[in-house]
Amino acid sequence: MPDEGSPDSHSELAAKIRFDVPHAARIWNYWMGGRDNYEVDCVTGDAVAAVYPEIVTMAQQSRQFLIRAVQFLAGEVGIHQFLDIGTGLPTMQNTHEVAQRIAPESRIVYVDNDPLVLVHARALLRNTTSEGVTAYVDADLHDPDLIISDARNVLNFNQPVAVMFMGVLGYVVDFDEMRSIVTRVMAAVPSGSYLVLWDGTNTSAAVIRGSATLAESGAIPYNLRSPEQISQCFEGLEMVDPGLVPITLWRPDIADVGKVEPIDAYGAVARKV
Ligand SMILES: C[S@@+](CC[C@H](N)C(=O)[O-])C[C@H]1O[C@@H](n2cnc3c(N)ncnc32)[C@H](O)[C@@H]1O
Repeated sequence: MPDEGSPDSHSELAAKIRFDVPHAARIWNYWMGGRDNYEVDCVTGDAVAAVYPEIVTMAQQSRQFLIRAVQFLAGEVGIHQFLDIGTGLPTMQNTHEVAQRIAPESRIVYVDNDPLVLVHARALLRNTTSEGVTAYVDADLHDPDLIISDARNVLNFNQPVAVMFMGVLGYVVDFDEMRSIVTRVMAAVPSGSYLVLWDGTNTSAAVIRGSATLAESGAIPYNLRSPEQISQCFEGLEMVDPGLVPITLWRPDIADVGKVEPIDAYGAVARKV
């Protein structure tokens, strides 16, 4: 966790930001309606949206799923520790804001490996309460042991933790490695912890075209999985109702019941027994 005095200073970080290559976090921010993106990200975002317009809905609905899942965990379940891996650029209603609104003492560790996310994380991911803690780990999700050891500085691993992989595991090329990352992080947290995970699915021809367009742009490709593959990440855990479903259908707000459409992104919340 570098601070302003560390060798990885703000100016050195800024120098790592590439303006000639589209970045995952910034393209996602563009689709979500944020302003932390550059021309190259908008060009790629538009190219993907031209063949798969639902990507914009997916980005926006994924945040609604995050909000509903964190509200459920912080409120109904009483979980007050969150490990959000693949945080993204801070936008509306980030995990710490949702959790600390319900449980002010909530402790949140964010993990991402994008230099722009790191720059913004320092400025924006501040506690919304005096009792809570919000921290950021600059790490690659391919290194779960590093993530766990850094997260231990902030989270108490003897108490339940909500582990979150929200639209990030598609960056892991090999499916067995993807499963193993989830398994290794979940092995480190005690029973009573939860896994919250959603990922893009290969459930329409259009989303597959969108994924191919993204890969052609020079951005890091996103590997779509089948719903069956995603369900394997939850093996050994106890699913919360309604199980693994398109994220729009996971406990929709009352006003949205019967109105929201399924989407090529499946997610679930499950408890470690
Ligand atoms: C599709 S965005 C999702 C952001 C956020 N989870 C959300 O729900 O809005 C994917 C995020 O994963 C991050 N990411 C991509 N590859 C990563 C890696 N190898 N290690 C850590 N983070 C990664 C990107 O920087 C980006 O912020």
